[in-house]
Amino acid sequence: MKAIRIHQFGPTEEVLQYDDAPVPQPGPKELLVKVEAAALNRADLGLRKGTYRIDPKDLPVIPGREFAGTVVNVGSEVPGFHVGQRVVAQPGLGGYAEYAVAKASQTRPVPDGVDSVLAAAMPTVFLTSWFALVEDAKMKSADKVLIQAGGSGVGIAAIQIAKHGGARVITTAGTDEKCSRLRELGADETINYTINDFRQEVHRLTAGRGVDVVLEMVGGEVYNKSLEVLAPGGRLVSIGGAVGPIPDTPPALAEGRKASRFSITNYLNSHPEAFNRLDAFLLLVRDKKFQVVIDRTFPLKEARAAQRYLEGREHFGKIVLTM
Ligand SMILES: NC(=O)c1ccc[n+]([C@@H]2O[C@H](COP(=O)([O-])OP(=O)(O)OC[C@H]3O[C@@H](n4cnc5c(N)ncnc54)[C@H](OP(=O)(O)O)[C@@H]3O)[C@@H](O)[C@H]2O)c1
Repeated sequence: MKAIRIHQFGPTEEVLQYDDAPVPQPGPKELLVKVEAAALNRADLGLRKGTYRIDPKDLPVIPGREFAGTVVNVGSEVPGFHVGQRVVAQPGLGGYAEYAVAKASQTRPVPDGVDSVLAAAMPTVFLTSWFALVEDAKMKSADKVLIQAGGSGVGIAAIQIAKHGGARVITTAGTDEKCSRLRELGADETINYTINDFRQEVHRLTAGRGVDVVLEMVGGEVYNKSLEVLAPGGRLVSIGGAVGPIPDTPPALAEGRKASRFSITNYLNSHPEAFNRLDAFLLLVRDKKFQVVIDRTFPLKEARAAQRYLEGREHFGKIVLTM
């Protein structure tokens, strides 16, 4: 089969090789899927540098956290799936290929009406947003929520989840055009942080009180400034540092404020059944109540161009490889 493999880590997309590779064989609890679409994630950039959850002894490795396609082989201990079924899976690796394996516990059926490009782009962004906002930050109806980097894949999912839960959503983005698109997706207020200081804007929009929840994923200065806009009792959940570092241990805060870190990979490792939450989002997308925003698709062999595009700032939503 054709696959993108990394044989040695490196800083640029040049490490991605378009190779002939053996078709993987499913273990007893796994499925083999003919991949139709695989989503890119910011974590793919860390993987290629060797800094994201990868050991050099695992090289060569096929990147691709998540993918959708059709089941072609079912492990002997897998109930509930059959050959020919359309599925979406998030095994963490292997998606940049014509065939990939996933554990049954990391795989869900895709309903008619949701195509493979949309399905492939869903698990990471919807599950991260849901469990970070609802489980970790205990977001409630009528909370005021600040979502940083609203135009990211995660940001777009989080805005819709927060609005669906009855929250009032303020979000940030780097251009007026992104801000306008985020309002169309349901954000109540947007802040172009290249023009306005988001702290001043949040204070103005909340009459000086601040927000109940921040979903933070930029890191560095943005992380530190985000702590300053928390209302008493407010919760900041950090899911990553797309740009700057985040503290290993969140700081202690006054007046009942709390800061935490959340990882969907760690969460699903300790709560594998939580992956089934994806079913609800697949139905919301099928019924056109939620949107999956696909910025661009690239053919598999153009994975280098796709990652180069992801690394820039122009995209809005998800970038997906098609086979
Ligand atoms: N903890 C978890 O479980 C988990 C899961 C998924 C993702 N994440 C994290 O969530 C974040 C978003 O991931 P994603 O895959 O959704 O990202 P993405 O689609 O690539 O979006 C990244 C966003 O960051 C903003 N940004 C701000 N400064 C930037 C800079 N200097 N360079 C590039 N982008 C910049 C960009 O928007 P503007 O140009 O509008 O600022 C861009 O939309 C990442 O930090 C990722 O690691 C964490």
